[in-house]
Amino acid sequence: MRMLVTGGAGFIGANFVHQTVRERPDVELTVLDALTYAGNESSLDPVADAVTFVRGDIADTDLVDSLVADTDVVVHFAAESHNDNSLHDPWPFVRTNVIGTYQLLEAVRRHDTRYHHISTDEVYGDLELDDPAKFTPDTPYNPSSPYSSTKASSDLLVRAWVRSFGVQATISNCSNNYGPYQHVEKFIPRQITNVIDGIRPKLYGKGENVRDWIHVEDHNSAVWSIIEKGAIGETYLIGADGETSNKDVVEAILEIMGLDCDAYDHVSDRPGHDMRYAIDATRLRTELGWEPRYRNFREGLAATVAWYQANEAWWRPQKDATEAKYAQLGR
Ligand code: NAD
Ligand code: DAU
Repeated sequence: MRMLVTGGAGFIGANFVHQTVRERPDVELTVLDALTYAGNESSLDPVADAVTFVRGDIADTDLVDSLVADTDVVVHFAAESHNDNSLHDPWPFVRTNVIGTYQLLEAVRRHDTRYHHISTDEVYGDLELDDPAKFTPDTPYNPSSPYSSTKASSDLLVRAWVRSFGVQATISNCSNNYGPYQHVEKFIPRQITNVIDGIRPKLYGKGENVRDWIHVEDHNSAVWSIIEKGAIGETYLIGADGETSNKDVVEAILEIMGLDCDAYDHVSDRPGHDMRYAIDATRLRTELGWEPRYRNFREGLAATVAWYQANEAWWRPQKDATEAKYAQLGR
């Protein structure tokens, strides 16, 4: 099988490529990645011999067409992915997430290529803290931020291309991922690397917001289940029952790193900050038989802390610029 992975130099895409090389040596992998500030080609160093890397933009019609012409399956991870950035400058989100997805859909339509679309639970908006409900594939779309609204737009393009043009596509909407190779702008790596640097972790607002954490390896094993067994046109929600408040995450990081659990600061809240996400992954579990491997968030978090401690050379070049951006936002 020939597979084109967009965004394969980013966090989840790189982990997907590693997992695929490890577990499916018969797959011929090509990565298409623009290497934006969030992309890091060195994330693919351990598998460089097994992958063809193309630096380029998913919004480049001719490049995308030529790559899709030579592939059997496209797995589309590439995106602008950070909510805080989208509040500051939404245009790259519209360009990459909406127009980039459009270009890929047109190419898979021309070449009749199987397409899997990676998306987020944020398309559903948020839930109240005391609401027993979780997101299901029937939850109405209600995105809050420029980031989530562009991801919702891209999902709707996929649905329309399936119905109108018969494109062979599936969609997955996953909750918050953690694990190795995540950019230090994101919550967990930011706090781990702050602690390493002697900076107190920073919690937005009261820190009551809840995210449904899943290990990146579990996200990617679910993506493989959908590629192999998913029904064309279907949406699968991916989550592993990992609901945890931001305050509890910060306290766990501090404890794992040997500091007092209250050694953090509250900073100004994110505008429009979604309160809670929670995934009901029943369809994935019952119809496709998928199960997560990482069931203990604290153990996964401790392994992630150890990864950042052991791989400073990977994250150090991103750190100062990231904190300078946050300093401008007062966070
Ligand atoms: P990331 O920001 O770490 O990586 C994105 C990658 O896409 C980078 O390598 C970047 O260089 C590349 N890219 C950006 N614009 C591009 C363009 N125009 N052309 C080609 N490449 C481009 O993101 P991530 O956290 O790995 O997220 C990957 C996907 O998973 C995204 O679609 C995101 O919406 C989705 N998702 C993320 C999470 C999460 O918790 N991180 C959860 C659910 C879904
Ligand atoms: O739910 C899936 C989404 O999860 C993905 O679609 C996004 O691509 C991914 O970035 C993530 O979005 P969040 O906005 O939830 O992730 P982030 O890591 O930015 O923040 C997680 C929570 O932590 C959120 O409630 C904001 C809070 N936070 C974040 C940072 C960076 C802090 O309290 N302090 C911080 O310094």
